[in-house]
Amino acid sequence: MNFSARCFLLLALVLSPAAWSAEATAALATRPDGAVIASGHELATKAGLEILAQGGNAFDAAVAVSSTLAVVEPISSGLGGGGFFLLHDARTGKDVMLDARETAPESATAAQFLDRNGELDRDRSVNGPWSAGIPGLPAALAQLASQHGKLPLKASLAPAIRVARDGFPVYARMAAGYASRREVMERYPGTREVYLRNGKPIAEGDILRQPELAHTLQLLAEKGFDGFYRGETARKLLKGVKQAGGRWSADELAGYTVKTREPITFNYRDWKITTASPPSSGGIALASMLQILQGWDLKSLDEAHRTHLVVEAMRRAYRDRTFFLGDPDFVHIPQEVLTSLDYAKGLRSTIHPEKATPSDLLSGQPTPLEDDETTHFSIIDAEGNRVGGTQTVNLLYGSGLIPAGTGVLLNNEMDDFALKPGTPNAFGVMGYAANAPQKGKRMLSSMTPTFMENADKVIVIGTPGGSRIITMVLLGILGYDDGLSAQQVAALPRYHHQWLPDEISAETGAFSADVVKQLQAMGHRIDLPGDSASGGRGSSHVWGNLQTVEWDRRSNTLSGGSDPRNPVGSAEVQFNQPAN
Ligand code: GLY
Repeated sequence: MNFSARCFLLLALVLSPAAWSAEATAALATRPDGAVIASGHELATKAGLEILAQGGNAFDAAVAVSSTLAVVEPISSGLGGGGFFLLHDARTGKDVMLDARETAPESATAAQFLDRNGELDRDRSVNGPWSAGIPGLPAALAQLASQHGKLPLKASLAPAIRVARDGFPVYARMAAGYASRREVMERYPGTREVYLRNGKPIAEGDILRQPELAHTLQLLAEKGFDGFYRGETARKLLKGVKQAGGRWSADELAGYTVKTREPITFNYRDWKITTASPPSSGGIALASMLQILQGWDLKSLDEAHRTHLVVEAMRRAYRDRTFFLGDPDFVHIPQEVLTSLDYAKGLRSTIHPEKATPSDLLSGQPTPLEDDETTHFSIIDAEGNRVGGTQTVNLLYGSGLIPAGTGVLLNNEMDDFALKPGTPNAFGVMGYAANAPQKGKRMLSSMTPTFMENADKVIVIGTPGGSRIITMVLLGILGYDDGLSAQQVAALPRYHHQWLPDEISAETGAFSADVVKQLQAMGHRIDLPGDSASGGRGSSHVWGNLQTVEWDRRSNTLSGGSDPRNPVGSAEVQFNQPAN
């Protein structure tokens, strides 16, 4: 950074409204008057509230929410997967990210994923044992409880164990997801055992009981890390993977570690943003996009011009994702440059205010529509602690493989590696050397749990959505900056651009016909599902499952927003009991 850029940066920091004065904070509440949780399933939200009522903090509640989601949303996440947990400790004021991303087993080299013609073997990369990385979620639950919680792991896992044992009603998304993955799921005896009733798959309204998963959770509750990664569960996982034709070793299970990482932080207007660091691509991409956009007064623009600029920022950030990002323990990421104001300024200068920049014409693949994979929850507790957790098994029902006797559906996260350089994965995003598979390496992710804070407000936001996660969080941040409520942010219409394919994809109804026309006149290609006039593919579609919570410190009120696209999600506030 040159001298004038450094001076500019210093001036920006000093003048930033985020540099709050003591006077401005004097009228602000220092603690919320209760707690708030938003998650993708009401049983998970209730599990978190139950643990808070027992005296737990946000981190204990996160264990309860995360583990209950693992039981009731096998379509999205589970003990066989991983996730990122962004934590704010109100006592110390510190933010950290627990990285519980899956790791590549030694056997899963790039060559294992190529067919005899040297093409990517898509069945191997997304189905069955080879698609699965070593799970990280159970280790994160143990670490959240032992290092951050107030209650024993046993107490915080109790709601999930109860729901796994007693069952819950299967909802429409789950049954539809099963139908789309049925062929893969029914390849494996352990999976058939859980999902078939007299040879028929679970249907909406059935009560799904998972006694084996309850037992696996019980062992985790009693023994912590060792209850999953060593002993009975580990033996069953190794056996199940081997019987299905894959290869994991006992050492790589027992050697799994959660990494505590420093989050990415930057300012956008008067907001301090704290977000996911690599191996998530989300934080760096958000920093890049928002710092590019900071150069314009978006609120003063008409919808078409605002959308054009947002799309151009998306295009540039996703191009960088393709080439530079991977597991920071294995590759050098030029993080300082990619998140700097100077770099954003340079990218901004390449954006024409009226014309789309054509993306490099490398072959891209249409992005499949995706909404139910992965899940997110947001928590603020009465002490002001915060958790943003995004967790996943990757695609719908992960690899489809449940090693017999465990109830644990394994992820298919290996597809998030660049298994063949330059060949798009299931989300249509590509990568090169930085994200090539290697023993013990974590695959690049888009999961972006994020905190926003300004003088008045504290917000936790996140969503599932594969490569669209980052742009949904971006639109959510812009929505909050526009003054929308948590529920309005969760309901915002969505659009996305990821460099390749060179097109804007948009939810049905996201743009008026007039805005579509204006964007097309600027040179944008738009994929509007269901709208053949615009060249859109497929039927009408919506995506995402955004869960966000907000604490307004000026009015000392809590609120939550749960994505209306997901009928079983819920956001609930729990008020402090008045002192007698
Ligand atoms: N598996 C989706 C992601 O981590 O980005």
